[in-house]
Amino acid sequence: MTDILSFKLLDGTSIPWLACGNGSGQANKVPVEGGMQALANGIRHIDTAQIYGTEEATGQVVAASGIPKDEIYVTSKRTYVALSLPPDRVLTAGSPYNTVSALPNDQPVPLDQVRASVEESVRRLGFVPDLFLVHNPFVAPPGQLKALWKIFEELKSEGKLKSIGVSNFRPQDLEAILEDAKFKPVVNQIEYHPYTLTHLQPVLELQAKHGILTESYGPLTPILRHATGGPLKPVLERIAERLIKVTGKTVDLATVLLLWTRAQGAVAVTASGNADRIKALADVSRLPDLLEPGEVEEITRVGKTVHFRHYVCV
Ligand SMILES: NC(=O)c1ccc[n+]([C@@H]2O[C@H](COP(=O)([O-])OP(=O)(O)OC[C@H]3O[C@@H](n4cnc5c(N)ncnc54)[C@H](OP(=O)(O)O)[C@@H]3O)[C@@H](O)[C@H]2O)c1
Repeated sequence: MTDILSFKLLDGTSIPWLACGNGSGQANKVPVEGGMQALANGIRHIDTAQIYGTEEATGQVVAASGIPKDEIYVTSKRTYVALSLPPDRVLTAGSPYNTVSALPNDQPVPLDQVRASVEESVRRLGFVPDLFLVHNPFVAPPGQLKALWKIFEELKSEGKLKSIGVSNFRPQDLEAILEDAKFKPVVNQIEYHPYTLTHLQPVLELQAKHGILTESYGPLTPILRHATGGPLKPVLERIAERLIKVTGKTVDLATVLLLWTRAQGAVAVTASGNADRIKALADVSRLPDLLEPGEVEEITRVGKTVHFRHYVCV
């Protein structure tokens, strides 16, 4: 697809390791400008969702970019009944839109509306997304997660969806759909960074057993949202200083965290609505493996001593 490293998914397709999302912060407010800048700078993976209200903008960006669609990877997510997006659809970090208990139209989606809802996503985007996720386990009516997944599987078999996966799934949710799955979910998109590792251990073990790739949202949480940065901050600072000396380039703590995410074999789903930062993220996406194995291990080890998460999806 491009010179950006990709990971292989269970279904044989490949996914670029760094995505720019348009569901959070400034990126959600300027999805067209941000998306155009991301693509112009070489990023080739955009993460959108029904609830972000940015599927149409994502489609516009891809169409206007002049880049063939098959060179741009797009993920979207099933969240709500078609046509019922709230007018104020901004998802900011920590906003109630990202908490299951406070979802607008806080109703599980009836299964007979799933197909129409997926068709709406495809219409808004202007193409079938490369990856389509169940946004969280609560979009299915209680006890019907498996039935929802069956519909995803049918849509994939019919060629109406490509890769299919899940987001914010706990071990019990994965187990429910894996029981007799025709297609295993290729990814689970979760809040993943060093400060969630201990808490996530059961779900990460299950994913490893089944070959389900982790997509990390909120990868910069330890440096952006933890009040002090915690014990990881001095570790990241020391590593960044070494990399500045080795590369002669500007290397910030975000770069180190993103490289750590990649070293874990996880896709980093980050975001920015700031032109300079988007360019910096594109530069990071093309970096070689700069972290030494001992540095990767140290970030993991120190990260596991703290439990801190920002999002409260599940
Ligand atoms: N599946 C889910 O339930 C779920 C939940 C949450 C998020 N997501 C997806 O994940 C995406 C990213 O989530 P996130 O915002 O939590 O990711 P993040 O990578 O932890 O944080 C991104 C934020 O960091 C800032 N930033 C970017 N590069 C930076 C740098 N080099 N140094 C310092 N700050 C930097 C950006 O602000 P500026 O705009 O000011 O640059 C942006 O608001 C979302 O847009 C969405 O697509 C999915």
